Amino acid sequence: MFKSIQSKINFAIFIVLLIIFGAFYFIMDQQKKTEIMDQKLKQAQVIYQQLDYLKTWIGKNGGIWIKDIKDDRYIVKEGRYARKNTSIVLAELSDASLGNKDYKFRVVSPKPLNPKNLSDAFENQALMKFRAMSPDAEIYKFDFDKKILRYVKPMVTSQFCLKCHPNYELGSIEGGISITIPIEDIIQQIKQNRIYYASFFGITMAVLLVIMVYLMNVIVVKPIKKLTDQADKISTGEINVSAEIHREDEIGELSKAIERLRISFKKMMNLK
Ligand code: HEC
Repeated sequence: MFKSIQSKINFAIFIVLLIIFGAFYFIMDQQKKTEIMDQKLKQAQVIYQQLDYLKTWIGKNGGIWIKDIKDDRYIVKEGRYARKNTSIVLAELSDASLGNKDYKFRVVSPKPLNPKNLSDAFENQALMKFRAMSPDAEIYKFDFDKKILRYVKPMVTSQFCLKCHPNYELGSIEGGISITIPIEDIIQQIKQNRIYYASFFGITMAVLLVIMVYLMNVIVVKPIKKLTDQADKISTGEINVSAEIHREDEIGELSKAIERLRISFKKMMNLK
């Protein structure tokens, strides 16, 4: 397959460059992908933080008082004012977020008061896992097929919750906040990055390949061809022209040896 020394060298250079650049490409691609995904995860964490501040603030103040509200068995009324507690404020904000294209959040439980808050398979799994984790744990998943990031944080049941959620167990995790963020933008970013790295490494590799092949040609292949020609000439009796290559390396040595051969041949011919 590789008859000439040139094709052997070219192939060897190509393989070495391919391994080096392939490894670089893989590492850089992974690193950038992780970086981009981390940024998206940060976004989910910040959204949760904001909801948590709000939740804590409303909880501390016992709720938000709203004027002229229609009757509801979970809403405490005092005169014309009614108190909306944390769960209800969050539920209403969640409803508002469902129309949002940047992110959505839901407060979910496998035992919901409102059936629309029923947790799905991923949320159930997360809530199960949280039971064995610390209360400030987080569970997330980048779903590249559905192009979303799912992020869940647990809610711990306190005495206060049992008033309206009698089927919850004190101290256990019965529900959580579930945030969904579209990730089309980062999928696009990761793709673009891949194209960028592939072209950068591809072009650099091609340039290096050309330079190295050229150098190997000049340093090794051409001189060998020249010496082969010279040896051929000597063998057919053309012994008057010197073709010495003045170099201090192996090719220089070989050239000197051929030159000595030519001179001895010449002396022998003259003796005749
Ligand atoms: C004053 C009553 C009340 C209290 C106290 C209360 N909640 Fe709720 N909670 C509700 C109502 C009402 C909903 C349903 C909101 C809706 O319509 O989406 C709800 C919804 C939820 C949900 C979503 C699943 C569901 O049941 O629909 C979770 C999870 C939840 N609450 C957790 C808690 C936790 C944890 C606490 C204690 C820290 C708590 N709640 C305290 C009234 C309450």
